[in-house]
Amino acid sequence: MDIQLIQGDITKVSADAIVNAANSSLMGGGGVDGAIHRAGGPEILAECREIISRIGSCNKGQVVPTSAGRLKARYVFHTVGPVWQGGAAGEAELLARCYEGSLELARELGLSSIAFPAISCGVYGYPKEEAVQVVRSVVDRWHEKTAGLTVIFVNLSRDMHRLYEKMFAGDAGANLSERKI
Ligand code: APR
Repeated sequence: MDIQLIQGDITKVSADAIVNAANSSLMGGGGVDGAIHRAGGPEILAECREIISRIGSCNKGQVVPTSAGRLKARYVFHTVGPVWQGGAAGEAELLARCYEGSLELARELGLSSIAFPAISCGVYGYPKEEAVQVVRSVVDRWHEKTAGLTVIFVNLSRDMHRLYEKMFAGDAGANLSERKI
């Protein structure tokens, strides 16, 4: 796994897959979910609707792929992070599952790159530093298993981007340039 950190809008990032921090209805919402559906167009929502008619709802930690409409990506991976409830409700495990399920799917599909937003760190209220620690532990577990995959962590806010920079500073292979889009 190669790591890149970008500060900016994930809908502008070129990657084989863009991960969406969705909710269990997969019917869109605010935050990054709204931005992805707005930029990607109605095709993505139509696919989500079809999937939900089959599976009922998307569980927390589950990952569901669709095509990416007008986005510069081949896929959108919709995943549902945990709502922060104080930390004793399995939030860290559920959050890790969102990242791991997405990496697993990227590997199965033979993708070269995947872009993640900070899942659960907006409306769902996950404490930012703790969320970045979860990401770090996933990266450590998956580093070897994902050779050749570029993983891009995209943050709209400078503060969140800085937390990632702090967490990954010194990593061999991590591209920590101040890319801004
Ligand atoms: N690009 C990158 N990051 C973004 C963008 C964007 N265009 N828009 C928002 N973000 C960041 C937020 O600043 C936050 O750090 O994504 C992170 C996740 O925030 P949310 O989008 O609020 O996602 P989450 O906390 O997982 O809540 C999910 O929000 O809108 C709904 O339908 C969604 O109900 C679901 C809930």
